[in-house]
Amino acid sequence: MKASDLREKYLKFFESKGHKRIKSASLIPENDPTVLFTTAGMHPLVPYLLGEHHPQGKRLTNVQKCIRTGDIDEVGDICHLTFFEMLGNWSLGDYFKRDAIEYSFEFLTGPENLNIPLENLAFSVFAGDADAPFDSEAFAIWRGLGVKESRIARLGKKHNWWGPAGQTGPCGPDTEMFYWVGLMPAPDVFDPEDKNWVEIWNDVFMQYNKTAEGKFEPLQQTNVDTGMGLERVTLVLQGKKSIYETELFMPLFAKLDEIRKADGETNRERTTGERIIVEHMRAATFIMADGVVPGNVDHGYILRRLIRRAIREARKLGLTEHFTSQIAEIVIDNYSYFYVELSKNADKIKKAFSDEETQFAHTLEKGTKEFEKTIDKIPAHIQKKILSGKTAFFLYETYGFPIELTEEMAKERGFEVDKDGFQKAYQKHQELSRQGAENKFKGGLADNSEMTTALHTATHLMHAALRKVLGEHVEQKGSNITVERLRFDFCHNDKMTPEQIAEVEKLVNDAILSNLEVSIVETSVDEAKKMGAIGLFEDRYAEKVKVYSIGNFSKEICGGPHVANTSSMGRFKIQKEESSSRGIRRIKAVLEK
Ligand code: ALA
Repeated sequence: MKASDLREKYLKFFESKGHKRIKSASLIPENDPTVLFTTAGMHPLVPYLLGEHHPQGKRLTNVQKCIRTGDIDEVGDICHLTFFEMLGNWSLGDYFKRDAIEYSFEFLTGPENLNIPLENLAFSVFAGDADAPFDSEAFAIWRGLGVKESRIARLGKKHNWWGPAGQTGPCGPDTEMFYWVGLMPAPDVFDPEDKNWVEIWNDVFMQYNKTAEGKFEPLQQTNVDTGMGLERVTLVLQGKKSIYETELFMPLFAKLDEIRKADGETNRERTTGERIIVEHMRAATFIMADGVVPGNVDHGYILRRLIRRAIREARKLGLTEHFTSQIAEIVIDNYSYFYVELSKNADKIKKAFSDEETQFAHTLEKGTKEFEKTIDKIPAHIQKKILSGKTAFFLYETYGFPIELTEEMAKERGFEVDKDGFQKAYQKHQELSRQGAENKFKGGLADNSEMTTALHTATHLMHAALRKVLGEHVEQKGSNITVERLRFDFCHNDKMTPEQIAEVEKLVNDAILSNLEVSIVETSVDEAKKMGAIGLFEDRYAEKVKVYSIGNFSKEICGGPHVANTSSMGRFKIQKEESSSRGIRRIKAVLEK
């Protein structure tokens, strides 16, 4: 079965069980400072898992694009990826453990579904600890479906607990499903440590909300959140040895061979280096399709790290000419039928790859020489081979070497990098280059959440002010708030003039100084529109939405939270106004105390 058929089969199966299909959200979460990327299908659904009503109802299904950089060191084995597609089904306060497990079982083993023999499957359930008891219910349901006791492992929080996606939020015990990829027959007893058992699906039973204090409070509404790895199940169904042998990666290797002029060896097992190249290139292409460009912070940094790691692996294979945009083109061609954002942004993506490659090629050689020079100076006989944090920072700053790249290069030569030293050098640099605004926060707002909440309210004020100054065409295209600043993308064609920037700042500061009350009403989307509330009126809004009003200055649909009154927010200042992409401007702004 091809991956495209698997997607469709999964969605149809859950539709037949009353689920509504929803679209994959962007890889870049909106308004969530706790994570950089969408790491699971549940992430964009957090408000609904917490009780907000979803317009499509209580049963949802989709395929979600995910990025998990935590697995980067394992990329190259048979199944770990930084980018993957997650098939998911959700119950938002509707069915719970029994139905979830029975649906999973039916989809995996049903003759008209995936038809996987039960002998090749194993399962795990939560063993219980101080926070929550052994999941005897899940255990009993699997047993009732005919699963042998020896194939059900009981594991602790490290394995059988999911969430929250950030620091706080919905979470709970889960039950996982594994497939045996080793020599058949599969062993009678399930040993979760055996790498031949590959996890393919996870049913999470969300019963708790983890609070900022680390407590697990029962959720008012119990939910089901499941995630099945599309690439892994494709590998299983095709009986391949690794995900790289499926049609999801084969065309990328073919292109790489063509560029390397290494034709005629398409079917051989691919090396770790080759696998890293195509895996990272696929991830980077998807990240770019969601509007990120390579840079030195946040998403841009992760993107840069993936691209530069791929380029370096290619160099190790002797490939010195440009290749990234050609591989990206294959990713775009292969996936656009399902993810239109790829073809829509194709030119931009290819250009960004080329630019990054040119820039990196300039510095890679010089940086590598510098690196070798430093390493060679370190006497060969010393016991502990350490590369100083200062050198690592120099390579980072001067040659754009991500610290992870320096670490990898060092490791190849038997060296470790002093990461603490690097962090210190990095922080010193950050402080020097900021000179002011953010530093004023020190000793100011004590608590991070207070700071982000105030910036969230400032974002609403600024959004309203931008519409007053630039016009009603201004619409939010993205928002990201950290403890230090807000970032806001909006549609507008021209660079803002200094006068316009000053005007927006003045309007926001006047609003703050007027001590405006922030009030909330819950109403229908139609009613909210009639009230003149702004917001992204997409299908993601529930029938009932929250409208936040800040005095008479701003009215916007939003999940919150916001300050109660603008009085203690501080002084609003726009630090940067720049182009984000065609027709989209980006503002970074701070609140000074
Ligand atoms: N959220 C669960 C996971 O990512 C399904 O495994």
